[in-house]
Amino acid sequence: MFNADSMLVKTPALTQASGTDGVLPSLIEHLAIVAPDLVDHGSRVNDHARRVIGLLPDAPPALAELTRITAALHDVGKLAISGKLLERPGPLSAIEYARVQRHAAIGANLLEAVAPDHPIVETVRHHHEWWNGAGYPAGLNGADIPLAARIVAVADAFDAMISGRPYRDSFSVIEALDELIRCAGTQFDPVIVEAMVEAVR
Ligand SMILES: [Fe+2]
Repeated sequence: MFNADSMLVKTPALTQASGTDGVLPSLIEHLAIVAPDLVDHGSRVNDHARRVIGLLPDAPPALAELTRITAALHDVGKLAISGKLLERPGPLSAIEYARVQRHAAIGANLLEAVAPDHPIVETVRHHHEWWNGAGYPAGLNGADIPLAARIVAVADAFDAMISGRPYRDSFSVIEALDELIRCAGTQFDPVIVEAMVEAVR
């Protein structure tokens, strides 16, 4: 059984009647045209995330929907980063890496402009935070990181590993789960990793 207490902290409610109900689906539709790879990846991230949420007994009702749209739009800020930089094989310089890292805040700022006060702004902003506080952009740690962002972080890493990248071969599912377990408690929320492992095995 997973500890539900940590799950309920910092879980934002979806805003109601904010006047932006149609904006996010429309943004996802447009993203599918200009960046289909991002949307395909987001769809797979959501598939993994849904399986995790299914194993969290006290998951708030709004969590699945917030996680779904976060999965779809988590990397929207990459539209503002050079594709050459994102796909280049080999190590990045510190300046280049910092440039790539900016996609989290850029995406959040874009979403804030179109859907102010919607919880997706903070879930996208913090999808690269680490459980131990070593992530970016804010260095949040533990339950201060929005729950949907913690779930997307694990599902995103899992999908990235098993899908491969232009600059490296993919991991097997077993190798990817082992890597998640290795990083549980440092990079990832250990409860989410435990659920991911149970969902896949
Ligand atoms: Fe990202």
